[in-house]
Amino acid sequence: MADPSTPGAPSGAAYFDAASTEPPHPAARAALLEALDAGWADPARLYGTARGARLLLDRARARVAGVLGARADEVSFTSSGTQAVHLAVLGGLQARRRVGRHLVVGAVEHSSVLHAAERHERDGGEVTVVGVDRAGRADPEEFAAALRPDTALACLQSANHEVGTVQPVAEVAEACRAARVPLFVDAAQSLGRADVPGGWSFLAGSAHKWGGPAGVGVLAVRKGTRWRSPLPDDEREGRRVPGFENVPAIVAAAAALEAYRADMAADAPRVSALVDRIRAEVPRAVPDVEVVGDPVRRLPHLVTFSCLYVEGEALLTELDRLGFAVSSGSSCTADTLRPSHVLEAMGVITHGNVRVSLPRGVDAADVDRFLAVLPGAVARLRETMRTAGR
Ligand SMILES: Cc1ncc(COP(=O)(O)O)c(C=O)c1O
Repeated sequence: MADPSTPGAPSGAAYFDAASTEPPHPAARAALLEALDAGWADPARLYGTARGARLLLDRARARVAGVLGARADEVSFTSSGTQAVHLAVLGGLQARRRVGRHLVVGAVEHSSVLHAAERHERDGGEVTVVGVDRAGRADPEEFAAALRPDTALACLQSANHEVGTVQPVAEVAEACRAARVPLFVDAAQSLGRADVPGGWSFLAGSAHKWGGPAGVGVLAVRKGTRWRSPLPDDEREGRRVPGFENVPAIVAAAAALEAYRADMAADAPRVSALVDRIRAEVPRAVPDVEVVGDPVRRLPHLVTFSCLYVEGEALLTELDRLGFAVSSGSSCTADTLRPSHVLEAMGVITHGNVRVSLPRGVDAADVDRFLAVLPGAVARLRETMRTAGR
């Protein structure tokens, strides 16, 4: 196994699904255990134990803000990346209702962004979807052209969660600034793995993507940007997120973010070279395969390829049997088997796809083993389909 120090790592199986969730970072575990004892009290109260919890929460906020390049009072903790996205989108729209009800989103945004956009549309708002090229990248000029005087908010992810393509956030941020439209950047997939792009008005992240605990998201609202909660009023988290904070998990998330970022700063070139190997080897070893996503402007750890004449689900199951935990771009969850909206928007093959996303400290020998068994696995499934007459 890649990293025997990773608690809970499946023994004997190579874990290649870091884009779904990164195995817990040892720094998160240590911080969580400590904060369970020191940070359980209500941080809103005035007695000693409560002040202790407040101090831990404030320190965690400052640490996360440091990584984001934000002020501490710009950062709030949510209960997931999805909740941070929903609050950013709906709160950003709510605050600018007087300007207009037009929303611009990229076509390959995460489902949490698209679901918030659908809600906005159902409530009478208007949504423009900006398409992407074959590599999954939004065109900054097309994005700029979609902005209108009544545009309340624009949304562009930092990098794509299914194919790894990095988006032109700096250019789009410049266009948004010129048009005086706030920009929401969903950085859930890149936080800790790549530099945080500047120019955002709202930013979202998710701790379990960087080796922190699940159930902690980050919502950052740039000072001076108008934002209004779409939810009933509550005093927690700068009035942005309702409910009692999970202080121990937040402390663990902050510790993991710093540690993970430091690890990735050192390890990203090696991980990225392994992805380059997969990108080069898979089409060489497997016929009728398309490797998708931008080969250069991409996240270090993620690659997706699609195999013709194979059912994606069957391939994932076969790879699981062979000792590889991988996922597919076809769905956000295992029980929705709709073709991926990301791959559809890119105009690439939408079935038989495998997303390989390498965790921190991945063992190169596991990647070798994967490349060795993949051609046989695909060939067997194709043969089964052929003999079944499908
Ligand atoms: C780009 C992106 N945004 C948002 C989310 C949602 O985060 P969470 O799983 O914490 O709800 C994810 C998770 O898959 C993601 O990849």
